[in-house]
Amino acid sequence: MKTFTSIKQIGDLQQAFAKARYIKQNPFADQAIGHNRTLLLIFFNSSLRTRLSTQKAALNLGMNTIVLDINQGAWKLETEHGVVMDGDKPEHLSEAIPVMGCYCDIIGVRSFARLENRDYDYAEVILNQFIRYSGKPVISMEAATRHPLQTFADLITIEEYKQVERPKIVMTWAPHPKALPQAVPNSFAEGIGMTGYEFVITHPRGYELDPAFTAGATIEYDQNKAFEGAHFIYAKNWSAYSGENYGKVLSADRSWTVDSAKMALTDNAWFMHCLPVRRNMIVTDEVIESPRSLVIPEAANRVVSAQTVLKDILSDMDK
Ligand code: CP
Repeated sequence: MKTFTSIKQIGDLQQAFAKARYIKQNPFADQAIGHNRTLLLIFFNSSLRTRLSTQKAALNLGMNTIVLDINQGAWKLETEHGVVMDGDKPEHLSEAIPVMGCYCDIIGVRSFARLENRDYDYAEVILNQFIRYSGKPVISMEAATRHPLQTFADLITIEEYKQVERPKIVMTWAPHPKALPQAVPNSFAEGIGMTGYEFVITHPRGYELDPAFTAGATIEYDQNKAFEGAHFIYAKNWSAYSGENYGKVLSADRSWTVDSAKMALTDNAWFMHCLPVRRNMIVTDEVIESPRSLVIPEAANRVVSAQTVLKDILSDMDK
């Protein structure tokens, strides 16, 4: 593996699960592979889980880590080409990226969608510049359109908790006060598409995701109907993808909040969310605190996910 920007780059899913299981049972078995290697984590946006779990994964592999929050302590970066830099941004990304590449062996980048221009966001301008100009393997720690480390952790969690061979997975939109990117739902849909599981996406009309990610999924606008017989409920908010509504909040309908009455429609489903989560907007206290809530094991699997990916990249660097 040279870069990890999409769950599709994980390769054969069953082999990836086997690698993840080994890492979970033997977290310190591969300390030598990262010796004298440095992982640089670049954050353009806030993080708790990705920041900590990716560092922990690197430490488990014997790596050193450096973390840089671009908006706290670094020079403000110009990201557009051809501009006269007479404003408040003294450094251009075109120099900053190769410089960062001089100080590490692998780079992780978090750069969210700006939700102003769909073409710009879906071109993954920032992430692709790191891939092109850093000279180092790049892992996405959530970019504009995907969050593959989260998706792999989600798939590992489903693999661990599923009680039937082909579970019914329901990804449901839920209300949120702010406009959020589509990266997590896009990526989750892409990942579930690799499993062959039954997959239903439910959301109010107008929240259709990019069909490039949702191929094979059933879209159901009636949330109650979607929940019937589900084995996993994956809740997430996202803003509109389509046309001139791109990046907009179209609904604040609190009847979409996941509560115990809705969970009762399922086949005793597990509840999942990538976190952070707005309680009593996305999900009620009762559901997230119930014994069927997987949000903590799901977050714990972020270390396993990142360690599996980093180990693969380190192994390929040694070839
Ligand atoms: N799920 C997730 O990526 O969490 P953070 O935004 O806290 O990293």
